[in-house]
Amino acid sequence: MSKTIIITGGAGFIGSHVVRLFVTKYPDYKIINLDALTYAGNLENLRDIENAPNYIFEKADILDKDALERIFKLYQPDGVIHLAAESHVDRSIASPLDFVYTNVIGTVNLLNTAKHFWKDNFEGKRFYHVSTDEVYGALGDTGFFTEETKYDPHSPYSASKASSDHFVRAYHDTYGLPIVVSNCSNNYGPNHFPEKLIPLFINNIITKKSLPVYGDGLYTRDWLFVKDHAIAIDLVFHKGKNGDTYNIGGFNEWKNIDLVKLLCSQMDKKLGNAPGTSEQLITYIKDRPGHDRRYAIDASKINKELGWKPSVTFEEGLSQTIDWYLQNEEWLKHVTSGEYKRYYEEQYKGEEG
Ligand code: NAD
Ligand code: TYD
Repeated sequence: MSKTIIITGGAGFIGSHVVRLFVTKYPDYKIINLDALTYAGNLENLRDIENAPNYIFEKADILDKDALERIFKLYQPDGVIHLAAESHVDRSIASPLDFVYTNVIGTVNLLNTAKHFWKDNFEGKRFYHVSTDEVYGALGDTGFFTEETKYDPHSPYSASKASSDHFVRAYHDTYGLPIVVSNCSNNYGPNHFPEKLIPLFINNIITKKSLPVYGDGLYTRDWLFVKDHAIAIDLVFHKGKNGDTYNIGGFNEWKNIDLVKLLCSQMDKKLGNAPGTSEQLITYIKDRPGHDRRYAIDASKINKELGWKPSVTFEEGLSQTIDWYLQNEEWLKHVTSGEYKRYYEEQYKGEEG
């Protein structure tokens, strides 16, 4: 059955992989990529599919109610997959209000618009909110986040995402809006903006800058290849139960320092460096305030109910990711000019780098 779907944040890291998957897998769907093109949005991420007949780009800010109304009126969507967000913890520490505006108020704007346009008939409609495992807070050495874990956000980023999750569920409970939510662990892969750990360190190894590890480097994250997240989003959008939440994770925990050493060794091989060359760039720097010690997702619900599991190992996914960055140095150069330089200097000032 044909559908019209608005994907918000489709020019960003995860959004671009979701847009590509939907545009190529569902030629009879109309996919509208709604994105404000902030520093994190980049239409170069979608060059290969931008001329597809079922793809449309709409530059719009989710804070702009009139723009949302115009786009809903024009396309009459059946579904929304909402990924647009401010997504970087360190930026949220520097500018929390930006996160309240986009992640909380922007999400409520989008909910209001969907409710308004769909109110006569919710049948066949779906508002899918893409969220993060960071809403659950931090784990100690053991345990996993399940869909029942109590929310306990610590950073302005995770607090804003937690708030948006609550609003999405409240619109389901209060107005009957058909919704589904997923909370995913750390993603990695091609097109990741080089402010996050893995692409930042790949870029710094290429440009021979220091690798700034926060605190003792023993913080743990559960990493998932972005294309596997996109596949999970496709499944949850089409088969997830109305009103439900699905946790998505990689079954793949790494302490930051172990991950960085693996990255260094893969990069040394690919760059033809002597073993140990890139590790010499590792520099321990002051910790991130409110730094969550460990995230780990129990993804057994989506596995049992929807049959999803990650398809690539971390070593394989990381190797593909590094290859993409080495083959796309122009992309890296474009995104690391201008605003990025100012961000980098401010974020890492006083540290070597
Ligand atoms: P990203 O920062 O790479 O991309 C965000 C996109 O949203 C950009 O294209 C940007 O232009 C757009 N955007 C930002 N503000 C907007 C606004 N006001 N109006 C319209 N568009 C706007 O983010 P990402 O890493 O791709 O994350 C996408 C979603 O997935 C986010 O909601 C994030 O919370 C969630 N998530 C991310 C991860 C991760 O590891 N990156 C993990 C779990 C969940
Ligand atoms: P990040 O990629 O920012 O994702 P998140 O904070 O959403 O998990 O960071 C991943 C981990 O890497 C986190 O523990 C913080 C750490 N980190 C560093 O040690 N140095 C850095 O320069 C960055 C950006 C992150």
